[in-house]
Amino acid sequence: MRKNIVAGNWKMNTTLAEGVGLAKDVNEALKGVDAKCDVIICTPFTHLASVAAVIDQKKLGLGAENCADHIKGAYTGEVSAPMVASTGATYVILGHSERRQYYGETSEILKTKVNLALAENLTPIFCIGEVLEERENGTYFDVVTKQIQEALFDLSAEDFGKLILAYEPVWAIGTGKTATADQAEEMHAHIRKVIADKYGKEVADNCSILYGGSCKPTNAKEIFSKPDVDGGLIGGAALDAASFMGIVTAF
Ligand code: PGA
Repeated sequence: MRKNIVAGNWKMNTTLAEGVGLAKDVNEALKGVDAKCDVIICTPFTHLASVAAVIDQKKLGLGAENCADHIKGAYTGEVSAPMVASTGATYVILGHSERRQYYGETSEILKTKVNLALAENLTPIFCIGEVLEERENGTYFDVVTKQIQEALFDLSAEDFGKLILAYEPVWAIGTGKTATADQAEEMHAHIRKVIADKYGKEVADNCSILYGGSCKPTNAKEIFSKPDVDGGLIGGAALDAASFMGIVTAF
């Protein structure tokens, strides 16, 4: 059966020293709780190797926030999937709306990144979600369906089964405006149906689908109580160990 997961997305926050400190705090806090979910932190590239050295990855998974769409070579400033894997990280966020919006990441590019990540045994946390205009004009189901189909539906069922999905309505990211638990459930159930139609019920039932967008200790419990919501991808609230733990323990 699918896992419950709480994953932090630190984005472009924390210096190396701050990041290592935060990772240590989360690692330490996890020792004191019987977490009912897998817990992951996704940090800037610069922090990965140092964080890997101070956490217990049996209890706290580690991921990058992106990887390159090439495996190696003359791509100044890029960080490849093999490089991410060589730090000890085992997850990678791909297709975050900020990457799509600010760095022009298309489904075609993301398809390549997913394949490169899987080839390194990295687990992609693949993000999908509509912008406010698409929510308001009622096209949000189609938009999310298309994002999944375009980037992921060339995968074999076996490879698709390795992914974690994260539904993040763009209008709810960093805005304090959370989707209601019912809005999240409605979309998660839709996503699961789209997967079932392509890969069958078993693959769909086994896929962890996280919700992301202004998830906090105060709203996590209600959102996570929905049958098709298997956890959260947490931005702002992951930058403080206590609030992140407040979300982890919502399960
Ligand atoms: P937020 O970000 O929790 O700060 O809204 C979530 C995300 O973008 O992954």
